[in-house]
Amino acid sequence: MSLNHTDEIPVIELRHVDKHYGDLHVLRDINLKVSRGEVLVVIGPSGSGKSTMCRTINRLETIDSGDVLIEGKPLPKEGRELAAMRAELGMVFQQFNLFAHKTILENVTLGPIDVLGMKRDEAEKRAMELLARVGVAEQAQKVPAQLSGGQQQRVAIARSLAMNPKAMMFDEPTSALDPEMINEVLDVMVELARGGMTMVVVTHEMNFARRVADRVVFMADGQIVEEGAPDEFFDHPKTQRARDFLNSIKGH
Ligand SMILES: Nc1ncnc2c1ncn2[C@@H]1O[C@H](COP(=O)(O)OP(=O)(O)O)[C@@H](O)[C@H]1O
Ligand SMILES: [Mg+2]
Repeated sequence: MSLNHTDEIPVIELRHVDKHYGDLHVLRDINLKVSRGEVLVVIGPSGSGKSTMCRTINRLETIDSGDVLIEGKPLPKEGRELAAMRAELGMVFQQFNLFAHKTILENVTLGPIDVLGMKRDEAEKRAMELLARVGVAEQAQKVPAQLSGGQQQRVAIARSLAMNPKAMMFDEPTSALDPEMINEVLDVMVELARGGMTMVVVTHEMNFARRVADRVVFMADGQIVEEGAPDEFFDHPKTQRARDFLNSIKGH
């Protein structure tokens, strides 16, 4: 009973979130719940506020009003508690942001050792398992520049997973990749989704969205304009804005 009750609390919840950048009203009354194990895909035109929304979830951006709740608890404003909460939300960006002067293995063990206080040998064992899982174990002793973009992004995913996150957020993780490397990253994300990871994914990869999303959210001008099951959204978008957007990206 108590377990079921816990599972009903969304992993991530945004309530009436508003944010401005000066005169720009970048997030307008955003309300969103992400359930445990759910894969939410966020799509929308450039500049619609998708990245800003992702960044408010782990407080890389502050908000003007509203609430961000992680497992029902308000996001701490600062300090140790905020750092601890951030560590529980994995974030993978378009740019991989690996430490250039550290090996792949060190990139993945750094957080667990420094933030989680894990012992080095334990952290390395776990890191090697994760690197194997994303298919780059044989690159462990190299530095990031020796890897392809697709490999680096898979390392970035392994690095996030090493922190045992409650949820993973992906902000256009394949947008900076050469086309032939996109699928190797998406395949890792598909496996994660199948394994039950709670995921928020900003992407223009519509095949991925159709295949993996439990729900699609369409944003425009800082608002959630439409949301629904992927087939329903892609085949029968309800709003003209969503239809226009889907037409504009067809063939990509
Ligand atoms: N730090 C910032 N300062 C001022 N404006 C910003 C900042 N970051 C983003 N913006 C603006 O906010 C809007 C939404 O940006 P963003 O969240 O990056 O959109 P998306 O990810 O959907 O492309 C854009 O108009 C962008 O120029
Ligand atoms: Mg963006």
